[in-house]
Amino acid sequence: MNRKLLQRMEKVLAQREADGLLRTLKVRSSTDARINLADNDYLNLSHDSEVIAAATSAVNKWGASSSASPLVTGYTSLHQELEKTLAQWHGYAHGLILNTGFSANTAVLGGLPQKGDIVLADKLIHASMLEGILSSEATLRRFPHNDLDILESMLEESKETDAVVFVVTESVYSMDGDCPDLSRILKLKERYNFCWALDEAHATGWHGQTGSGMQEEQGVRAAADIVVGTLGKALGSQGAYVLCHDVLIKNMIINFAAEFIYSTYLNPGSVAAGLAAITRTKNLAKERTDLHQLSRDWRAALRMAGFTAPDFHSPIIPLIIGEVKKTQHYAEALRSAGFIVSVIRPPTVPVNTARIRISLRRGLDSTHLEKFISTLKGVAS
Ligand SMILES: Cc1ncc(COP(=O)(O)O)c(C=O)c1O
Repeated sequence: MNRKLLQRMEKVLAQREADGLLRTLKVRSSTDARINLADNDYLNLSHDSEVIAAATSAVNKWGASSSASPLVTGYTSLHQELEKTLAQWHGYAHGLILNTGFSANTAVLGGLPQKGDIVLADKLIHASMLEGILSSEATLRRFPHNDLDILESMLEESKETDAVVFVVTESVYSMDGDCPDLSRILKLKERYNFCWALDEAHATGWHGQTGSGMQEEQGVRAAADIVVGTLGKALGSQGAYVLCHDVLIKNMIINFAAEFIYSTYLNPGSVAAGLAAITRTKNLAKERTDLHQLSRDWRAALRMAGFTAPDFHSPIIPLIIGEVKKTQHYAEALRSAGFIVSVIRPPTVPVNTARIRISLRRGLDSTHLEKFISTLKGVAS
């Protein structure tokens, strides 16, 4: 191995460790009975008997792999059914399955914006969206998180140019669990005629009467021009999708996105699990109302205990402690008390905002909340 390369890698990783930011893998056991407040399986569908049965049956019928990229032989009637089901559910004419949410975002935002275009993106968009935009040759401008006044002033400035303008947001932000005013973005879109790409990854399943997401909940169904969603969060499977009104967007991805063209397509088991999970999700309307209350209860209890927790009802609660070591100390106590929690540190979140990202899920009850709060109080005292 090249010595210069080895030395370089050693130096970079040693610096990471010295900063207390080294990332390492930890094995999770299938028999770990602790309460998982770290993953994104908000509806517990990855262990749902109907979802598992659908995946098993598809694997028996189609095999464990799609065995080729979609443009060779990887695209099956299952994939086609899933894209149609997803599109119909969200109110779009067209859908396309991609292997991951990460690659769906890089395919859309790396491929559609071109040199001379302007992309206006929220400061806290997911790494995958940023990666996509940065790989395009468009000009990127960031607006402060959820600050639609500043977005509007940027749109006003862009009006003077003849650039194609893109606006890029999430509907529930992955590390803060909050949401922009989607109807206001829609009004801005009607006025400024931009292309709106919306990531609904963390809203689908938890928000909306049928669970399709935050557009449905806020009464602006199918307002965005492009929606990216994942099967790997509340839908309990794996894989992702892009939805659009105009078939040209779908055809651009099929023709130009390397993520789509040059990769073995999503396996049949995950596709079938996704289909079954959509059916299950649509039928959980009553439980969704209870889950929203659960989210409010956890937030209120955290505030009562002296912590900050923004008032909302999404599945993600950012318990911001600030300093990395102190946050890790809280996390260790919670782990010992029987919770699986993860510490989110810079550079994933801004410096001095290290946090425990609480992911709520179906099945939590008041005893879990009481134990969680008493553990936090024990550390704080
Ligand atoms: C907002 C957002 N978009 C996209 C992704 C990527 O999705 P996937 O896990 O399917 O690659 C994530 C994953 O954490 C996310 O939080």
